[in-house]
Amino acid sequence: MNILFIGDIFGSAGRRIVREHIGHVREANAVDLTIINAENAAGGFGLTPQIAEELFDLGADVLTTGNHIWDKRELIDYMNAAPVDSHDRGRRVLRPANLQPNLPGHGVYQGTTESGVDYAVIDLQGCVFMNTTNDPFYAVDGLLAGVRAKVIVVDFHAEATSEKVAMGWHLDGRATAVLGTHTHIPTADERVLPGGTAYQTDVGMSGPYDSVIGVEKELVLRKFLTGMPGKFEAAKGNPKMCAALVSCDAATGRATRIQRIMLGE
Ligand SMILES: [Fe+2]
Repeated sequence: MNILFIGDIFGSAGRRIVREHIGHVREANAVDLTIINAENAAGGFGLTPQIAEELFDLGADVLTTGNHIWDKRELIDYMNAAPVDSHDRGRRVLRPANLQPNLPGHGVYQGTTESGVDYAVIDLQGCVFMNTTNDPFYAVDGLLAGVRAKVIVVDFHAEATSEKVAMGWHLDGRATAVLGTHTHIPTADERVLPGGTAYQTDVGMSGPYDSVIGVEKELVLRKFLTGMPGKFEAAKGNPKMCAALVSCDAATGRATRIQRIMLGE
């Protein structure tokens, strides 16, 4: 079984480069399950229902998010409109599972691929250098107890490399893949851990790399150089699609291979 995980789509440049490559990458690699982190897809800040629909139309099965989940209020209605036990598109947009209780949306989705393999996707957010959340390590232990699928993909949306590496070891042998998002720069540490969990600290953004992690570089430089507040806007130049391709045994959920992908224009 082959799983394609596309890193944080950033703005229109990110959407365009993903549109250009997702089809041939899915086809060439016989991808069974496609997951996209889309939390920066709407101009760098959040996700709209319309963009979510576009990404589902392109072949995404599940969309994950992170700290920008609440940036576009209309996404809340989109998620709320889908019943919890449905497979509607709105139900397949995830917010971090370990946010405070009783917030809209869900952090886990369980589905079945076209070829009949049950899978689960878990969205988690780190707590080091991030907004307050519940502890992701204990949260994921609780969530896994309720998952019956063998194939389990965890998007760990976190800032600190140490926290992400630790999560990889925490879930080794219990998840098919632990893939980091949020820092927008791909790391060269993809590997299959001894227990059969594919791991990469950060998959990297799918967006404009002539930027500072997606934002127009002049705007970020001005802020660093002057300390003055200013509005950030999504950059456009040098877009790349970053992704991880994970192969696993569908019967056991154990990963056999992980490949880092970066495709430009
Ligand atoms: Fe983020």
